[in-house]
Amino acid sequence: MHKLYVAMVGLPGRGKSTMARRIRDGLAAEGINARIFNNGDMRRKLLGAESTSPDFYNPDNSFGREARELICRRNLEAMQDYLNGDGEVAILDATNVSRQRRMMIENTLKNHPVLFVECMNEDPLLLNAFIRRKADLPEYAEYTKDEAVESFMKRIEYYETIYNHIGKEKYWMCVDAAANRVLAEQPCESSPFYPAIREIVVSMWIESLYLARHGQTEFNVQGRIGGDPPLTARGRAQADALARHLAGKRLDWVFTSTRMRSHETAAPVLENHRDAHVMALREFDEIWAGDCENMLYSEIREKMPEVTAQRNANKYSYVYPNGESYAILQERVRRGLRRALFLAGNAPFLILGHQAINRVLLSLFLRQRTEDVPYIHIPQNQYYHIQLTPTRKLFERIPYDGKAAKQDTSLKDPQIYS
Ligand code: F6P
Repeated sequence: MHKLYVAMVGLPGRGKSTMARRIRDGLAAEGINARIFNNGDMRRKLLGAESTSPDFYNPDNSFGREARELICRRNLEAMQDYLNGDGEVAILDATNVSRQRRMMIENTLKNHPVLFVECMNEDPLLLNAFIRRKADLPEYAEYTKDEAVESFMKRIEYYETIYNHIGKEKYWMCVDAAANRVLAEQPCESSPFYPAIREIVVSMWIESLYLARHGQTEFNVQGRIGGDPPLTARGRAQADALARHLAGKRLDWVFTSTRMRSHETAAPVLENHRDAHVMALREFDEIWAGDCENMLYSEIREKMPEVTAQRNANKYSYVYPNGESYAILQERVRRGLRRALFLAGNAPFLILGHQAINRVLLSLFLRQRTEDVPYIHIPQNQYYHIQLTPTRKLFERIPYDGKAAKQDTSLKDPQIYS
């Protein structure tokens, strides 16, 4: 009978728990019984506040070392019991950063193969956001935010001192968790679960993405590009309408650009979602028109006819003088989406972007010729709702002022994001 143990590997903040949940849920979608065994949860239950202090993680602290080993062994026993019953895949969610710990796991779990999945991610923005979020957990209720951040960073430092990357184990997969990419692997050929897990790991997983453009600005009315204009009264009404539409929906994260129009559109949404995390990402700033920033389209046509002519000849590749093209934009928008997806994990989130940004974002989900991307219609009175999970591929366009017609299309052939 084919059964499999999976043991996560990696420092805190590298996306292990999100990945473990995706593996469990992705396998469940295939009718496979999978369960997560989390060392951190057991530690908090058994030891409480005592195990929050960074000293507990000091490799020279024998009490902490032994307690963590014991917790791990308990979970290994529970995993064995699970696979001795009707469980098919048991997933250990823990750091397992030392070679010694992984040898102990391999030597204990002998009745079925053990696949180690190492999660890596060295993006400082993501690590920083992760640590700041950790500081809000009940575990740190007695700490100030700064103390909690410092304490958690110290804990990570201790883990770093005993960290060995995987490579010597029998079966393993090393994953860039923010890019959904397998960096290296030693596949478990005999396990039918290996291809299923690999597929889950490399697939973009979106529980719920709401994608909207900011409301109308004076620049939009005039046909002026770029800049940092505020919303018009109509733009504010559009933002209110969007907020009303999203009011009853769960929204854990709101990502804006760094521009005022994006922030002003987010404001009413956030009034209804006070617990949502907010982050302004430069990656979602509108295409940079360089020397043409703040100009009217008509002015550009008149004063810089070569810009209009060249752009019309190949809008996707055309680079504004000292500015960007859609082709250039693609890179940073992908990076922004990767960051947003990593931070949101398996939770619903909103991106409040701009015309060109939203075109590029949508093109990542639609099979679109690049020449058509810069012309995708992005009105300011509708948003998109996108879901991409093993059981759900949804692409829905929802009007929020009652004027546009509703479209509801299942994504038959989504573009895989890498
Ligand atoms: O006109 C609004 C705007 O967001 C500008 O700031 C930006 O330059 C433009 O849209 C992008 O659209 P296009 O590539 O069609 O000019």
